[in-house]
Amino acid sequence: MQNSDHLAEFVDWFRASAPYIHAFRGKTFVVAFGGEVVQDGSFYSLTHDLNLLVSLGVRLVLVHGTRPQIEAEMAEKGLTPEYHDGIRITDGDALECAKQSVGQVRVEIEAALSMGLPNSPMAGADIRVASGNYVTAQPMGVRNGIDFNYTGKVRKINTMMINGSLDDGEIVLLSPLGYSPTGEVFNLTLENVATEAAVALRADKLVFLTGSVGVVNRHGELLSELSAQKAQKILDVATDLTEDIRLYLPGAIRAARNGVPRAHLINRRVDGGLIMELFTREGIGTMVTAEPLEQIRQATIDDVGGILALIEPLEEEGVLVKRSRELLEMEINQFTVLKRYDMVIGCVALYPYLENNMAELACLAVEPEFRDRGLGDKLLQELERRARNLGDIRRLFVLTTRTAHWFIERGFKPASVDDLPLEKQRFYNYQRRSKVFIKTL
Ligand code: ARG
Repeated sequence: MQNSDHLAEFVDWFRASAPYIHAFRGKTFVVAFGGEVVQDGSFYSLTHDLNLLVSLGVRLVLVHGTRPQIEAEMAEKGLTPEYHDGIRITDGDALECAKQSVGQVRVEIEAALSMGLPNSPMAGADIRVASGNYVTAQPMGVRNGIDFNYTGKVRKINTMMINGSLDDGEIVLLSPLGYSPTGEVFNLTLENVATEAAVALRADKLVFLTGSVGVVNRHGELLSELSAQKAQKILDVATDLTEDIRLYLPGAIRAARNGVPRAHLINRRVDGGLIMELFTREGIGTMVTAEPLEQIRQATIDDVGGILALIEPLEEEGVLVKRSRELLEMEINQFTVLKRYDMVIGCVALYPYLENNMAELACLAVEPEFRDRGLGDKLLQELERRARNLGDIRRLFVLTTRTAHWFIERGFKPASVDDLPLEKQRFYNYQRRSKVFIKTL
């Protein structure tokens, strides 16, 4: 019994991931992680998840870091790392350490990706890892009188070569080193390489594996979704972000603002975290997008289907008055919708009675799985704004049978049918016996 419950659950969540499986096929993901992932052995379980993505048709570009390896290498040689403004100053010795570290880390990554033991999650995997001089670099140069020497930044990503390898079904592994046209080698940051690669390749996702849960607010609560603008604000004012987030969030913002639809920061310490983030709606980390995911705006004729799907169950229950598709199409301009991607998850309608200086709020609905998140308030706010813009509307009324409390908590006062505009009184449905509430704007 227990086992079959378990299996039923498995089927549920496997089905739930179908939309993502479809959506990800043929898409390009850039996944970036620090050298810690290789150092602490967690890359081993990560390979299983990367392998799964590849088998689903994801075009995968990996970007690895080497910070801890370079530190260790330098310590061993008795060299002291030098930083300015958090950026390493790479002298000749440090560059040697960087080159050695990159070599070491690459070999370990390639080895882990080559596993294919029978009965292991990697069985049957035939992953080929491509490498090459994909990244052209330029020196950081002299800043504030400090010569950064062999510390560089990305000048160009060879997208043709990378796409060629991806087309051949290979995984591309990028290291934080770049070459200059004069044949010099430069030490780069993984976040710089990953971000520029994602932007240049027009990747569909950029994922950073971090040492923390994601971006958190002042109370330590995870911020699951952020617009680029909001993320930038946090970066500007927050004082307690972890070092990883400070390094990676600017890359996520830059990517989101430059055509990468979604950039994710997730916790590298959660086994399977990448799968949780990619194949569930809520994810486990922070997702940065150019625009807020939820947008509120006036409805258009294209929203009719979405609105109907949203309100029909409520009409069946008798919470909302029935509206035909024809009526909805005619009145579509009165509607405000709350959209999440292409899905209508909330709506509300506004019917003005200008000669009475009143307006009716009607058909307020929020998709059940998005309730209790203040979206109703958002809709109400937007409706009030629209009402004010219509002219001299001083009072908002609503007829409701079930949700009186919600309106009372938001400043509506009980009123009677006689308080309604005459025109509305004539159509009042005495069988339905809705209660009248009025809010003074
Ligand atoms: N699985 C979806 C995706 O990969 C949604 C992820 C949502 N993540 C989040 N942190 N809110 O695009």
